[in-house]
Amino acid sequence: MRNLDAPRAAAPLDAEWERIELLGHCLARMRQGIALEDAALGRLRELHERVRLGREAGAGWRELGVGPFSGLEYDVLACALVPEVEPRIGWLFQQLQPGSAQPYPSAALVQELFALEAREARQLAAALGEDAPLRRQGVVEMEGTWPYATLRPGRGLAARLLGLPEPEVAPPGSHRVRGRAPWEALVLPEDRLAQLREFMLWLQHRRTVVEEWGGSAVGGPVALFAGPSGTGKTFAALVLATELGWPLYRVDLGALVSKYIGETEKNLNRLFGSVHGRPMVLQFDEADSLFGRRGEVKEARDRYANLEVSHLLARIEQHEGPCILTTNLRGHLDPAFARRFQAVIEFPRPDERARARLWRTLLPPRAPREPEVDSERLGEAVPLTGGGIRNAALHAAYLAAGAQKAIGMREVALAVWRELGKDGRELSPADLGPLARFIPEVGRC
Ligand SMILES: Nc1ncnc2c1ncn2[C@@H]1O[C@H](COP(=O)(O)OP(=O)(O)OP(=O)(O)O)[C@@H](O)[C@H]1O
Ligand SMILES: [Mg+2]
Repeated sequence: MRNLDAPRAAAPLDAEWERIELLGHCLARMRQGIALEDAALGRLRELHERVRLGREAGAGWRELGVGPFSGLEYDVLACALVPEVEPRIGWLFQQLQPGSAQPYPSAALVQELFALEAREARQLAAALGEDAPLRRQGVVEMEGTWPYATLRPGRGLAARLLGLPEPEVAPPGSHRVRGRAPWEALVLPEDRLAQLREFMLWLQHRRTVVEEWGGSAVGGPVALFAGPSGTGKTFAALVLATELGWPLYRVDLGALVSKYIGETEKNLNRLFGSVHGRPMVLQFDEADSLFGRRGEVKEARDRYANLEVSHLLARIEQHEGPCILTTNLRGHLDPAFARRFQAVIEFPRPDERARARLWRTLLPPRAPREPEVDSERLGEAVPLTGGGIRNAALHAAYLAAGAQKAIGMREVALAVWRELGKDGRELSPADLGPLARFIPEVGRC
């Protein structure tokens, strides 16, 4: 019996589930050599018709943001999904697959359920190909060896259908960047902030420009953030994600781009398949390793064969959702590539005023502070990046907490000294500028 409280979204697909259940029962009877009853056949015909009409109207499937698919593809998707929506049908599938330890159907069971003939079975194999829509959209996953490969629904699909909270699963090869970042915390020159806001327009007004005004629908949008380490590229991506209310995932290009030929393609398909239709911001770091001038394949990046590079770019462009590529090296960028992005934004090292603002926001707000700790003065003192200031500000706070005192210039100066020393280069007190006098023993600490 259907739970009356079940969310409405599942209701338009009820005929899909009932039809599969009935097909399962019919198959069980046929295997036992029992003839099918007329009533069951009549009901099956009725359900076929309701399913056909429902699919034509897009009822149920459209809310899920998947499709459009062929009839056979919808059949496969419904079979993969039904064990998670109606567990009793999962148990039925398990009974129909002796020895199977789980409720998901194999391709062979789907073939038998729908009594597919040889030609249709070939179409089934094609529909389950890695590049076919079901796999590319990430709505069906397949594990094992044909034809006994197990079919599972894409992650989160059943949760979405049932209105349950989606399990948080990072797309393969990516990591969640946690936290929230408001615009006010982002310290950049006004024109860069304007560029970032313009990039947001591509996300906020797509419907108007593409659907109402007939603008061409490009994928993405894709932005390139270029600038030295610690200048706020990831932080700016987090600001965009916060404004959209979407999670930010950082993709490890090193893990994604495998040196084994063909693996990259699979990794890409897996990644983009799993993110299809999911609202999120994707950030690809170290994009410079991919954007060397075309034809110029240097030793360090010869594992990124040129072909794979252009494939990766094309694949990123096809993806519908914001992608942010980051690089520390603007110089490497081929202008032909730069033109493919909706925004190219340079992140400069902060000037004195920007550094003062950064010190102000990055010293822990409720930490006790000696009056001599003055953000303007700190901004003038040493040319750290925002990342450097964040580290130094936190280290100063820990030094003060360890000494059970307020943050003073001594803690700040020592923290800056430590931050500068991270490069591994030989430091002299002159590197600390006016802060040097707060730690006279500098150089020995
Ligand atoms: N422009 C900025 N505005 C505000 N905060 C900043 C800025 N730049 C850096 N920060 C602070 O420094 C931290 C580190 O910066 P972030 O990780 O964004 O640098 P990045 O440019 O992505 O560096 P990398 O190239 O090494 O990945 C941020 O979390 C933020 O706290
Ligand atoms: Mg970063």
